Amino acid sequence: MKVIVVGAGYVGLVAAACLSQSGHQVVCVDKNIKKIEALNNGIIPIYEENLESIVRESLGNNNLQFSSKIFVSSDIDMIIIAVGTPTLPDGRVDLSQVYNVFREIVNVVDHPIIVVMKSTVPPGVGEKVKKVFLNKSKVPISYISNPEFLREGQAVWDWYNPDRIVIGGDDRESIKKVLKLYSDIDAPRCIMDITSAEMVKYASNAFLATKISFINEIANLCELVGADILPVAKAVGLDKRIGGQFLKAGLGYGGSCFPKDTRGLDFVSTINGHTFNLLKSVIEVNFKQRIYAVRKLINHLGTINGKKVGVLGIAFKPNTDDTRESPAIDIIKMLVDEGADVVAYDPVVGSEQCPLPEEITLTNNYEVATKHAHALVICTEWPEILNIDWEEVAGHMRDPKVILDGRNCLSKSLLVELGFKYLGIGR
Ligand SMILES: NC(=O)c1ccc[n+]([C@@H]2O[C@H](COP(=O)([O-])OP(=O)(O)OC[C@H]3O[C@@H](n4cnc5c(N)ncnc54)[C@H](O)[C@@H]3O)[C@@H](O)[C@H]2O)c1
Repeated sequence: MKVIVVGAGYVGLVAAACLSQSGHQVVCVDKNIKKIEALNNGIIPIYEENLESIVRESLGNNNLQFSSKIFVSSDIDMIIIAVGTPTLPDGRVDLSQVYNVFREIVNVVDHPIIVVMKSTVPPGVGEKVKKVFLNKSKVPISYISNPEFLREGQAVWDWYNPDRIVIGGDDRESIKKVLKLYSDIDAPRCIMDITSAEMVKYASNAFLATKISFINEIANLCELVGADILPVAKAVGLDKRIGGQFLKAGLGYGGSCFPKDTRGLDFVSTINGHTFNLLKSVIEVNFKQRIYAVRKLINHLGTINGKKVGVLGIAFKPNTDDTRESPAIDIIKMLVDEGADVVAYDPVVGSEQCPLPEEITLTNNYEVATKHAHALVICTEWPEILNIDWEEVAGHMRDPKVILDGRNCLSKSLLVELGFKYLGIGR
């Protein structure tokens, strides 16, 4: 099939690359001209495993092209939208990127076409788009909601191995055509109306976020009653009705999806006259978890003013350079406010990806962050951090050598043996 993917970000680029690898003819469009220039030279602007080789191969066999403008030739079957839908300060979803794409599409399309919405948009947006934009088109444009569930860091694997493919639409022929995009992928197909498909995405992310906040609350309670969250979470997760995933206590969720999608669903609930109390608590628990971590560190250091604190891991999770809503960023800002001398380490994140306060140093060498530090805060469980030589670090840190393991990913017994003061979450 011949498709245009609009947006060459974490989702659009993966979609474009994987669809082209599956044999579809893909043009990936992004308004960011520099990004398109780099991509045309085979340079990938994001860190995502296996993506570069697929892009290069597809560029080589002409299944994939990059462009900074939407150009709809008469043989294009569909346009897939994968632009950003960030959050506004009041929790609303900023749909301006999506609406701009529709304005453009309606102007340039000259034959019947399908528009596939892969961006995460609140329930009800698809029906609104049909009325506000598509009904004004001179040619029929069919709308399909096809939410994306891939995880950054394993996006290519997830693309080919999804738990389900969700398609929302009201035109059987269009649904059939969109399903052909995925003919090489073995996964249950869930076909429904547009608004329900949109809801699946929000409900899924809200549920996963709920699991994380729930286990963090249990972890906080474990600390108060003297229990250890690690065996507790493991045993709870072995119950098949519950499942072990997303039951890892820590600093809470971050990234470009859970924070904005939980806030977005809360806003949609309120505007529709429903008070989603459970979701409001999930959001609050998640934010407080970062504050608790800083408070715990202050309690153990006495004062943080003038102390060197190494923050290890800036990305919101391992195997990505994405720092959007990363707990590390808030923690660094709070530490700086308390007067700490913060040196942040991440194996892949550079200053261009990350809006950090000016006074902090960002390094890709962990020794710079750990040397002479009074305390370390582990924010991301990168393999590079798990494999640090802690004996060597113990030798060059300053007392009281506190390690706040915000991801419960290090061996407490080893660190205590090496002379560190170990603080976990719920342990
Ligand atoms: N990142 C994830 O893990 C993930 C997972 C599932 C779903 N989603 C959803 O997918 C959507 C995209 O997310 P992302 O993380 O890839 O966003 P992103 O910000 O990384 O990428 C969006 C891209 O769209 C481009 N763009 C914006 N307006 C454009 C226009 N008019 N024409 C051409 N290009 C335009 C931007 O320049 C940018 O490169 C969001 O709705 C997000 O919620 C993201």
